[in-house]
Amino acid sequence: MSFLSDNGVFSKDKLDFGSTLLLDTIFNNVNNDLDILDVGCGYGYIGISMAKFKNAHSTMCDVNKRALHLARKNASANGVEDRCQVLESNIYENITGIYDLIITNPPIRAGKNVVYGILDGARDYLKEGGELWTVIRKDQGAKSTISHLEENYKCEVVTKSKGFYIIKAKKH
Ligand SMILES: C[S@@+](CC[C@H](N)C(=O)[O-])C[C@H]1O[C@@H](n2cnc3c(N)ncnc32)[C@H](O)[C@@H]1O
Repeated sequence: MSFLSDNGVFSKDKLDFGSTLLLDTIFNNVNNDLDILDVGCGYGYIGISMAKFKNAHSTMCDVNKRALHLARKNASANGVEDRCQVLESNIYENITGIYDLIITNPPIRAGKNVVYGILDGARDYLKEGGELWTVIRKDQGAKSTISHLEENYKCEVVTKSKGFYIIKAKKH
């Protein structure tokens, strides 16, 4: 696969380690053909890869217009534009569907309100038994985030590497 990137988007020069670890872990743990939502999609690495290799129907959203433009181009360049919908949305503001999986490498720099808005809010956009998948670094509060998520989800740390925790939070 190839991805166009640009100034002003997350991890513009190379794929982020947290994002690749998250996606590799998901690939080994979920079925094909799912409806997924990639929140904070950036230039589209997660949602487009899920469409391409897991035959997912991917909805992808972000607040960054440049990232959204790139995500649309990247979906076409990788031949999955028919399975990718790219929307501008502040967290879930413009999201109307419900999903089997919500996947996010959350925007830590946007602050706790936005990050917890994405993580907590996911519950309302997941089907029963649906799963929120996220990546958080140990030094960015992975353990306290897991304790917080446990209030609303059944959580599992599926893998850990180089201080990055991959968390599955299941709606029950
Ligand atoms: C850590 S980056 C992940 C980008 C991409 N998913 C990846 O893995 O390469 C987080 C993304 O969240 C987006 N973002 C920041 N605030 C947001 C908000 N309020 N609602 C939706 N997305 C937001 C940023 O623009 C950024 O693209």
